[in-house]
Amino acid sequence: MTTVGVLQRYAHYLPLTARTPALSLAEGDTPLLPVPRLAAWVGVDELYVKFEGVNPTASFKDRGMVVAVAKAMEGGATTVICASTGNTAASAAAYAARGGIRAVVLLPRGGVTAGKIAQALAYGAEPVVIEAGFDAALDVARALARQYPVELVNSVNPYRIAGQATAAYEICDVLGSAPDVLALPVGNGGNISAYWVGFRRYHEAKTIATLPVMLGAQAAGAAPLVLGHPVESPETVASAIRIGRPASWDTAVAAVTESGGEFRAVTDAEILEARSEIARREGIFCEPASAAGVAGLRASVAAGRTPARSRCVCVCTGHGLKDVASVPSIDASAPAIPATVEAVAAALGL
Ligand code: F0G
Repeated sequence: MTTVGVLQRYAHYLPLTARTPALSLAEGDTPLLPVPRLAAWVGVDELYVKFEGVNPTASFKDRGMVVAVAKAMEGGATTVICASTGNTAASAAAYAARGGIRAVVLLPRGGVTAGKIAQALAYGAEPVVIEAGFDAALDVARALARQYPVELVNSVNPYRIAGQATAAYEICDVLGSAPDVLALPVGNGGNISAYWVGFRRYHEAKTIATLPVMLGAQAAGAAPLVLGHPVESPETVASAIRIGRPASWDTAVAAVTESGGEFRAVTDAEILEARSEIARREGIFCEPASAAGVAGLRASVAAGRTPARSRCVCVCTGHGLKDVASVPSIDASAPAIPATVEAVAAALGL
């Protein structure tokens, strides 16, 4: 049994002091899984999935949240606040509970899955449902944090970025180098910025000799970074990345530009198809937004932008159980089969 988390494992790379509380839910150290059957579908020679859905609150947010909440506590904060499409809220709520402080989560009305709301409430967060989308909710959270003694833990908080950079370190530590391509979903732009910080830092330390090309995938109905301008009313089945005005716009663009990468839009149909292929080919169940990186990489290969002979990593950012509404279900009105071997065997055509 280990409770080693991000703070302990990557202490040298994080802005910790002797007074930073040793907060941990044993986050990070997630698997980097070789996925040959998915690689064949995507069209590349070598593919890995970094499965962030196995973090304590089932998304990558925990890496940055443990740092942000620990630093907030170190500074004497007793309340953290965030706006969220769900995963940030669940993570903030869990780490606030673990640290014994208050969490307030601003949630866009109708924009958060039932599973994520259940998480946040279970951990004891105080929810405020906002009559707007994520972008406006984040504006309010930022303003509240300026005017009141509440600590903002959205990814504009630099401690979140420092913590999330640990995922890049882990990938390099396992592969022994950087991949050729790193593909991931982009919403507010924090995570792609954090990965780029991590890769650059390892590069400067000469831990890795090359840098990856960064591929940021956005849902077609919520693709401000692909379009080059904000989107007023973003719409996509991937509610986690239903964001029209990314707060980390400049650093996300820098990651793509400096790495020679690209932002790519993928349709909701492509996202759901990728989600299904990841699950059925490799046994990895992720939420729709998480599949956007895989869908984006496949489209990039098909377009001739990413060479097939690339060593690629796709980040699957959150667990599939967070969003089951978009998965086919059993028809509850269909007649059930009698509990006999004969009837089940007949139903299966055995
Ligand atoms: N994937 C998942 C599962 C997410 O929850 C998010 C963001 C992203 C990708 C995109 O990351 O915003 O750093 O570009 N979720 C935020 C939230 C907005 O409130 O949970 P990003």
